[in-house]
Amino acid sequence: MSERSNAGRPGGNSRKVFIKTYGCQMNVYDSQRMGDALAKDGYEPTEAIENADLVLINTCHIREKAAEKIYSELGRIRVLKAERAARGESMQVGITGCVAQAEGAEIIQRAPVVDLVVGPQTYHRLPEALSRVALGEKVVDTEYAVEDKFTHLPKQEARQIARRGVTAFLTVQEGCDKFCTFCVVPYTRGAEVSRPRADIVLEARRLADAGVRELTLLGQNVNAWLGEDAGGAETGLAGLLYELAEIPGIARLRYTTSHPRDMDEALIEAHRDLPSLMPYLHLPVQSGSDRILKAMNRRHRAADYLFLLDKIRDARPDMALSGDFIVGFPGETDADFEATMQLVRQVGYAQAYSFKYSPRPGTPGATMEDHVREEVKTERLERLQKLLREQQEAFQKSFVGKVTDVLIEKPGRHAGQAVGRSPFLLPVVVPVDAGQIGDIVSVTISQSLANSLMAEGAEAQPVASQDRSDPLTRPEIRSFA
Ligand code: SAH
Ligand code: SF4
Ligand code: F3S
Repeated sequence: MSERSNAGRPGGNSRKVFIKTYGCQMNVYDSQRMGDALAKDGYEPTEAIENADLVLINTCHIREKAAEKIYSELGRIRVLKAERAARGESMQVGITGCVAQAEGAEIIQRAPVVDLVVGPQTYHRLPEALSRVALGEKVVDTEYAVEDKFTHLPKQEARQIARRGVTAFLTVQEGCDKFCTFCVVPYTRGAEVSRPRADIVLEARRLADAGVRELTLLGQNVNAWLGEDAGGAETGLAGLLYELAEIPGIARLRYTTSHPRDMDEALIEAHRDLPSLMPYLHLPVQSGSDRILKAMNRRHRAADYLFLLDKIRDARPDMALSGDFIVGFPGETDADFEATMQLVRQVGYAQAYSFKYSPRPGTPGATMEDHVREEVKTERLERLQKLLREQQEAFQKSFVGKVTDVLIEKPGRHAGQAVGRSPFLLPVVVPVDAGQIGDIVSVTISQSLANSLMAEGAEAQPVASQDRSDPLTRPEIRSFA
């Protein structure tokens, strides 16, 4: 990202902001919106941290490792800040996101290099906070703002959207009321709030007008989204999806992350009836043991989850499933872990994430008895990941020799190649002449690679210099890919 702009600072050099994002897609979306807010204030993005007047680290608190990483990063930033100071240049350092919310002012005590701590609900107040920092203040803003950050953040401009490509995230819901006993999200993101339908539709239209073809609706509990339809009647996520599917240009819809308890009939039917709703569902189960599910406060049993999957597969037989798993939750026995392995064998996942349980301060899990030894967690995680990897490989291989649709997203790593995704979210390398960025093309899969598929014709291209007549070199997209 190296676009030149002096917006907001007539005649002067514009300031540069470096934003690094950890954690979930909602943080990715938030980072983009903070970037938009700062662009209005005259900041241009940079990928070279040493040139940044402002460094923002958008953080994740979900596991200890994720949170601790921030402090080692701040150690490196301290050196860069000192180097800039020696050159007479300043560097403001801000921590945003879920660590900011969870640790607040403690962050500045532990790492005095930090000037600013802003929680996820107050990003719209960032420019004001920065002007206080410029006056030498240390600012901590982790209130749950009364006003809604989404309505106060500036709208994305077509130029900014085009730069980000033909797929986009759109946060429709934030926060969580589920209080799973291992999880910090209800504390860092607050109570469940749904954005109003009209705002979401407006934003989706703006994205579509700027060339976006695929929308992924985001929420910590996205399928708990609740709103009113155009006639004022209450509607859930399914109603919203039907409305978004009508927007010209939007060819694909996805949503993540869902809780099994909120997968209602209407949403399952939408998977049967709405062709643009992609057949890929991230539906975390965490464990296959009823005892552990209860201790986790997931509020469903393994059999409920399997029954739900049957209904979903009845509606959409080719549905690919993804999930999250935690191994070594307090009290997890060998038998509990075997129940998880058994559930995974029964479901057959296309893809999945799995983690060792990490006790988080302030959550009920942290103070439970019978914590599982680290070596046991490691051994269980290895076994689970081996099984999940085998399933992923089998899923990918099932496409070899078959025709699949690909939405072309960006140029590939090698000349002659472009990269897109299949309906099942698998990256597919296609020949560059298969189509333009934003096109959905049908290709035959020739090979399954580690984490992607190769389409026929893509592997045969010589690695040569870029041809300027390459159909993918549409400058407005290419320069930011
Ligand atoms: N809202 C989503 C996921 C939120 S966090 C849901 O309800 O599923 C993403 C994943 O991180 C979780 O699904 C869980 O598998 C994992 N996770 C959350 N807290 C964790 C912890 N304390 N230790 C290990 N993994 C955790
Ligand atoms: Fe965390 Fe559970 Fe809420 Fe997901 S549903 S965000 S795991 S508390
Ligand atoms: Fe992490 Fe916060 Fe997302 S804790 S997973 S960044 S909601």
